[in-house]
Amino acid sequence: MVTLSINGQQVQGVDGSSILEVAREHGIEIPTLCYHEALEPYGGCRLCVVELKAPRGPRLVASCVYPAEEGAVVETDSEIVHRSRRMTAELLLGAAPNAKVIQALAARMGVEKPRVSLSDNNCILCGLCVRACREIVGANAISLVNRGFTKEVSPPFEIGSNACVGCTTCVFLCPTGAIKLEEVLANRSVHHWDSDFEAVACKICGDHYLAPELAVDVEKVLSEENA
Ligand code: FES
Repeated sequence: MVTLSINGQQVQGVDGSSILEVAREHGIEIPTLCYHEALEPYGGCRLCVVELKAPRGPRLVASCVYPAEEGAVVETDSEIVHRSRRMTAELLLGAAPNAKVIQALAARMGVEKPRVSLSDNNCILCGLCVRACREIVGANAISLVNRGFTKEVSPPFEIGSNACVGCTTCVFLCPTGAIKLEEVLANRSVHHWDSDFEAVACKICGDHYLAPELAVDVEKVLSEENA
């Protein structure tokens, strides 16, 4: 176990935990956006920054990826932390001005209007979709490509890839609704890039399974359930 101070309170956490995990275990609220407990932390959005009192002066660290260390002194609510989060919220609002979750977040941080407009596709590059596709689904069908202003989520060569199984985990986890799912009759189309899947029809009732053929061997699942 490690013992550290968060907002003047002595708290303990399991070795290897992040500051965010220890804080949450003790009911200390830290806002997050690119963090999900089912995925490896990424440290991409910087919304979870906290102030770490280091010997050479305080510094800001992303609490979702920074380890909780023995004797660390952490502030989650200081002026420098709020200033950093406000700036992050403003940038996020510039990147996804129409996303409800970002609008609410910005309002909470006191940001009304971004000074810059970064994109109009609502993607904030949090990487949740990419990590879920890799770590939960194991498909690795999409990734973050390019750098700087041209950075984006994309399948290889921006065309629907065979690796995508149409499970829609990315759609479900996207916090801003940047990745869309369309169901058109028996077909579903996932993402803003090109990937169509034909849903599987039930041989008994004729309804279509939400799981596309590639994602699940329905016959196998049903035969195992009935075995
Ligand atoms: S939640 Fe920690 S950097 Fe995004």
